[in-house]
Amino acid sequence: MSDKIYPVASDWAKRAYIDAAKYKEMYAESIADPDRFWAAQARRIDWIKPFTKVKNTSFAPGNVSIKWFEDGTTNAAQNCIDRHLAEAGDRTAIIWEGDDPTQSKHITYKELHEQVCRLANVLKALGVSKGDTVTIYLPMIPEAAYAMLACARIGAVHSVVFGGFSPDSLAGRIEGCQSKFLITADEGLRGGRKVPLKANADAAVKKSGDRVQSVLVVRRTGGAVDWVEGRDVWYDEAVAKAAPDCPCAEMNAEDPLFILFTSGSTGAPKGVLHTTGGYLVYASMTHQYVFDYHEGDVYWCTADVGWVTGHSYIVYGPLANGATTLMFEGVPSYPSVSRFWEVIDKHKVNIFYTAPTAIRSLMGAGDAPVKATSRASLRLLASVGEPINPEAWEWYYRVVGDQRCPVVDTWWQTETGGILITPLPGATALKPGSATLPFFGVKPEVVDANGVVLEGACSGNLVLADSWPGQMRTVYGDHARFAQTYFSAYPGKYFTGDGCRRDADGYYWITGRVDDVINVSGHRLGTAEVESSLVAHEMVSEAAVVGYPHDIKGQGIYAYVTLMNGVEGSETLRAELVAWVRKDIGPIASPDVIHFAPGLPKTRSGKIMRRILRKIAEQEFSALGDISTLADPAVVDDLIRNRIG
Ligand code: PRX
Repeated sequence: MSDKIYPVASDWAKRAYIDAAKYKEMYAESIADPDRFWAAQARRIDWIKPFTKVKNTSFAPGNVSIKWFEDGTTNAAQNCIDRHLAEAGDRTAIIWEGDDPTQSKHITYKELHEQVCRLANVLKALGVSKGDTVTIYLPMIPEAAYAMLACARIGAVHSVVFGGFSPDSLAGRIEGCQSKFLITADEGLRGGRKVPLKANADAAVKKSGDRVQSVLVVRRTGGAVDWVEGRDVWYDEAVAKAAPDCPCAEMNAEDPLFILFTSGSTGAPKGVLHTTGGYLVYASMTHQYVFDYHEGDVYWCTADVGWVTGHSYIVYGPLANGATTLMFEGVPSYPSVSRFWEVIDKHKVNIFYTAPTAIRSLMGAGDAPVKATSRASLRLLASVGEPINPEAWEWYYRVVGDQRCPVVDTWWQTETGGILITPLPGATALKPGSATLPFFGVKPEVVDANGVVLEGACSGNLVLADSWPGQMRTVYGDHARFAQTYFSAYPGKYFTGDGCRRDADGYYWITGRVDDVINVSGHRLGTAEVESSLVAHEMVSEAAVVGYPHDIKGQGIYAYVTLMNGVEGSETLRAELVAWVRKDIGPIASPDVIHFAPGLPKTRSGKIMRRILRKIAEQEFSALGDISTLADPAVVDDLIRNRIG
């Protein structure tokens, strides 16, 4: 926590779309009359058939239903491309910066139109029709954006899978949304290293029972790949032969736009479903106001399109606003730890949006690599993905932004589609470490464990009392799971899974997940996923995974592992288990600590007491609470004695 307050600079109050008075006025309107407020805001996108209904939402137990603008029709690709062509066809839509610093290119809106149309025609020729799902497993290359927009153009539903996921994880996500089409690349390139995407895709397709009919392959590195005749198609060859024009499908506001899998407390990752109209209105509006985007600005979000941040704030939000959005293929430390700042100078970036984990790791490299660059173009800095600690916030503000740029800490989730709690740079005084205040139309509440709504300064769990247009509509194929996961803990309210504190000024301080989700370097993982991977190893009898504070990653993965009878824990086995999980899920899930434990603390009914395991991993030995209900309290002493790290 930090007590510091940074007031809005006077030039910001003047130049920004929203100043403090306007924020207050618009926020009050948005809460008092959401229908009227959102009807006006929704005109920011083009509608084919205008809507007459605005909000039709219910969080009621047994009847969770979320619809916005439900009788309107539109097309997301038309809004992100075609409507800009007349006035801004020659404006750069995407600046692509390659992994190799000598590689970059500018793609105009006209070029984006042609590329997306050609690909849309290729997809149609492969048999993709309206409502079909297309899985996209690509590196950070322009083709990833083309693929998303080509799907949107013809009314197909995309499901982007992060290129760092393993074949098994990809297979699960292909099956999870019954995808028959896959778009991938020969290889990805990150930090000078090749990622075998096509080989992973081949393994995944095989694993998913050959459900996939066609695999479209982008040539990125030219590396050798296996080829399945009749199934695999080279992207460049197909696109070159396709027509450069393709009409936009007329989509209902509530037709699905995409599915994105995300981890929860239990079970396999779920397919978060977002629809077209409300999502686009919300992504576009938040992008404009939160980053105070003005025409001509160069905007860079460092996320990967495999995550929701890439969907809303690399592709849909910026492009709907006719912005210039930078897409970066590489990593912050290659070829040197100055890379981010060099890219900012090279492309004269004005608005920069990254994650606390990147800030912390670059902070560890000292000020010199930052100070070696100018960064004079920067005007605004933003953060997302996990709580930003005040030290990292201050460093970002002082060293990266030279105390000229507001730091906008944006809190949101895959499920929320867009930013919900955030400062507006011309309106909100900043407190390092706080995501500050709700965006328009957002009604946060803090509740205690019994669901009692707390008033004033307080801490508890964060819920949202009403819907906003960007909200997810359902878990793909499992509406009951949607209702159960988000609306059953506090009936009538959306439960975020986050804990939070509200201070006397009404500012929100998100403290992190209160469920069995951990946030590793801004990547969300279910502890259950890592556990089921560990127990699949033949030498493992039982596993329990918890998060613990980690200086760079925010949270690290601490795995308690009980081995099969007669198996001895060793360094070799430890390394083998880490490699096992890495291969099974992906590098982001690699456990940081493997603690061989002869026994886990369990209740007499056999339930693992995770609360105790969490406290031991956090080294909070005095805060273990009541352990008298354990079947064998001596287990706890043993775990404490052998706590690793
Ligand atoms: O715990 C919160 C944390 O990330 C979770 C959502 O993760 P995901 O769906 O992967 O989306 C990440 C990008 C939007 C939240 O439940 N989180 C995200 N942003 C912040 C944050 N925690 C604190 N402050 C933030 N700004």
